[in-house]
Amino acid sequence: MGNSISGEFGAATVGQEVVDKFADKCSKTIIVTGANTGLGFETARCLASRGATVVLACRNSKLGEAAVDKIKSAIPNASVSFIPLDLGSLKSVKDFAYLFQEKFKRLDVLINNAAVMACPKSVTLDGIETQFGVNHLGHFYLVQLLLPTLIKSGAPSSPARVVNVSSMGQYLFGPEEGVRFDDINGDEYYNSWERYGQSKLCNVLFSKELNNRFKSKNVISVSLHPGVITGTELLRHVFTLTNIKNVSKDGLLGAWSILSPQKLACLSSQRSKTIPEGVSTTLVAALDPDIVPGGYYYDCKLSQGEGLHPAVHEVELAIKLWEFSESIISKLSKETARKVIKVQIAKPQESWMKLIFIMLLGLFAAFVGFELLNKL
Ligand SMILES: NC(=O)c1ccc[n+]([C@@H]2O[C@H](COP(=O)([O-])OP(=O)(O)OC[C@H]3O[C@@H](n4cnc5c(N)ncnc54)[C@H](OP(=O)(O)O)[C@@H]3O)[C@@H](O)[C@H]2O)c1
Repeated sequence: MGNSISGEFGAATVGQEVVDKFADKCSKTIIVTGANTGLGFETARCLASRGATVVLACRNSKLGEAAVDKIKSAIPNASVSFIPLDLGSLKSVKDFAYLFQEKFKRLDVLINNAAVMACPKSVTLDGIETQFGVNHLGHFYLVQLLLPTLIKSGAPSSPARVVNVSSMGQYLFGPEEGVRFDDINGDEYYNSWERYGQSKLCNVLFSKELNNRFKSKNVISVSLHPGVITGTELLRHVFTLTNIKNVSKDGLLGAWSILSPQKLACLSSQRSKTIPEGVSTTLVAALDPDIVPGGYYYDCKLSQGEGLHPAVHEVELAIKLWEFSESIISKLSKETARKVIKVQIAKPQESWMKLIFIMLLGLFAAFVGFELLNKL
């Protein structure tokens, strides 16, 4: 596969141009995670404008519904709906996959767009470091659950796709060794920018391994850097009070402290993009029939290695990440199942206790009544 039609696109291409060009490829069912704002919203809007059936997967119901209304008021015949998804909760991911598969028969493209960047040290509802948990693990689990539908929807001439919105942050900030498997929650060392870089590196590694494992089943995957975009909410954690207090690790200084002069030069050379420009690479990845499976894209083009962390080429690392992610999910699922069983066991015990208490109370009342009757 080459890079033909998208060859005419570049850094200044806007998303609408891409969907207009691939209008005949838009009659697809597509999920966009984190679609209530920023790049996710504009990606969903562009796809809906050309007739795609778009599902907005967002964690906040009010914001998700508002995004649906906004798209529908601009495009009255848009086929767009909302299903709640919190990537920081494996239960929520499972519920999302169930609801989606109940409602939709097929899934042609899954766009894993949602992310948090450089947040202070914290964990997800499942107890996993937030950036690894939301940006990678939540999406990894989502893909596992939706794979049967993706496989069913793909065909050799038009495979189903998983598009992972990564970032040049993987190159700029990712740890030298790739992934800190031995300190995944950052208990020994936490720099919020490094953790963002790690999670975005995971997006690329996951894409490659997913592609290796499922290309033969007509599911391909690509990852991308959308550009440096002004006007989204991605910087929301960078200027929070906690980050300002801990400025050397989590604020902007935290980023500078791990940037080499070469990487700093690479970052400064980035021309900032508008939101419409920021979604064009994602849309190329989602729609271009000539996409290179397993590839990493930026400015609508396939990267030949530039802007990539050296670890993305380590096949063993991608396999290790896959197996590591599977093992965390299996462990967490067992824990959740144990919690459910505990609650189920606890409930009958509680009701037995109540019953015994009521019976004792009844006996006591009968005894008191009997004594009173005797005294009369
Ligand atoms: N903007 C850039 O310059 C830039 C550069 C490189 C890469 N990227 C990548 O582009 C993607 C989109 O970024 P953006 O700039 O559009 O950011 P954004 O405006 O902050 O949007 C992020 C989206 O992710 C959602 N999200 C966060 N945590 C979630 C969770 N636990 N479950 C479900 N959804 C969650 C947010 O929902 P809430 O609104 O509810 O929080 C929001 O919808 C990200 O993957 C980012 O890494 C962006």
